[in-house]
Amino acid sequence: MKKLMTIAALAALASHLAMVPVGAVEIEKVFKFYCAQCHGLGGKGDGPNVTKDFPVSPRNFTNATEMDKLSDADLKNVILDGGPSVSKSPMMPPWGKTLSGEEVDGLVKHLRTLCKCKGKQG
Ligand code: HEC
Repeated sequence: MKKLMTIAALAALASHLAMVPVGAVEIEKVFKFYCAQCHGLGGKGDGPNVTKDFPVSPRNFTNATEMDKLSDADLKNVILDGGPSVSKSPMMPPWGKTLSGEEVDGLVKHLRTLCKCKGKQG
């Protein structure tokens, strides 16, 4: 009986984990933790890591003109595989091993709320 209950509890836990989507609040935390040191808390590319010796400026996510040139898939790729994967600076690290696919999708959405833009379509 005890064993059965453990199994039931584990199953409940597993389905709970699978069902909870990464919410907006959660994603803001992810962004603040992993991205803000370079891209800034508000995404303006002015994080504390960016000193005058920083060779390239991290993308300003509030610049809708620039952000509209990239599709959601472009954003996802560069977040997963890092700057060099799209011929950009290695100062933008790859996150594919650190973040889950769900978190990366959430970050793409978060960046779209920062730029208030839809990005390149198609
Ligand atoms: C160590 C500093 C650093 C961290 C941390 C960082 N980035 Fe970047 N990021 C950069 C730099 C620098 C660039 C600009 C690269 C270039 O233009 O060559 C960039 C560019 C980007 C771009 C735009 C690429 C393009 O094609 O214009 C996206 C999207 C991006 N970062 C997302 C993120 C996300 C999401 C996180 C957190 C998971 C993150 N970055 C964390 C430094 C960083």
